[in-house]
Amino acid sequence: MSVSTAPVRLPVRRFGATGRRDAWWVQPLVVFLGLSTFLVYSTWAAFQNSHYTYGPYLSPFYSPELFGDSPHSWFGPRPGSWPTWLPFSPALLILPIPGLFRLTCYYYRGAYYKAFWLDPPSCTVGEPRGSYWGEHSFPLILQNGHRYMLFLSLAVLVVLWLDVWKAWWFVDPATGNERFGIGLGTLVLLANGVLLSSYLLGCHTLRHIVGGCVDQLSRAPAAGRAYACVSCLNRRHMLWAWCSLFSVGFSDLYVRLCSMGVWSDVRFL
Ligand code: FES
Repeated sequence: MSVSTAPVRLPVRRFGATGRRDAWWVQPLVVFLGLSTFLVYSTWAAFQNSHYTYGPYLSPFYSPELFGDSPHSWFGPRPGSWPTWLPFSPALLILPIPGLFRLTCYYYRGAYYKAFWLDPPSCTVGEPRGSYWGEHSFPLILQNGHRYMLFLSLAVLVVLWLDVWKAWWFVDPATGNERFGIGLGTLVLLANGVLLSSYLLGCHTLRHIVGGCVDQLSRAPAAGRAYACVSCLNRRHMLWAWCSLFSVGFSDLYVRLCSMGVWSDVRFL
């Protein structure tokens, strides 16, 4: 018996048109406001080149400080060959790594395609154009660079954990020696390390890499456990993405305001 089929033509909605009755526009609006606020603040903070350290604390925007004037600098002050017309800040040397990592993250792509490009504004809401470009041609094919940014970001994360370790050691003004202590800034940087790790270690790409390391996870228990751990974090990837975005911005703000004398760092020990 033959079955005849006829193509079904779906109506093309005009931009913004939808049959949805819920407040579908709230989520893209919140994403737009949240990401815009972070972009404006982080760009401003990156260009300051000041007030990014306080005691043993170093702002995560400026870490690792490859060149700079603070005691945290790895290779000393700004190189003499740096062009005078080019703005310098340690943050400008390092922020492209976490910035591009988040820009190419699968979660953020979905979020900013909707919130900034309105393409589409939300599910079943009319798009601004009728064609579909996908991510397999320029420029969006560059999103595939996410795996490389993952490796670089893992290296930056290790350095941030070293900063957390240093944040427990304060110089005693009486002796000039370092001694163990706990300040509110220590806890802020610690929370930031935990949230950044939860975001980064739940990356979709990392999940594929770990899962692809062995053909049969049941025969490699350690890889199986790592895969389960990454998968567990991945289930709440959106939550970790937002919490870590907030924590990294707040950590910079905390160090900055302490350094400027606006806030006082509370010492518990
Ligand atoms: Fe979000 Fe990799 S997919 S960090």
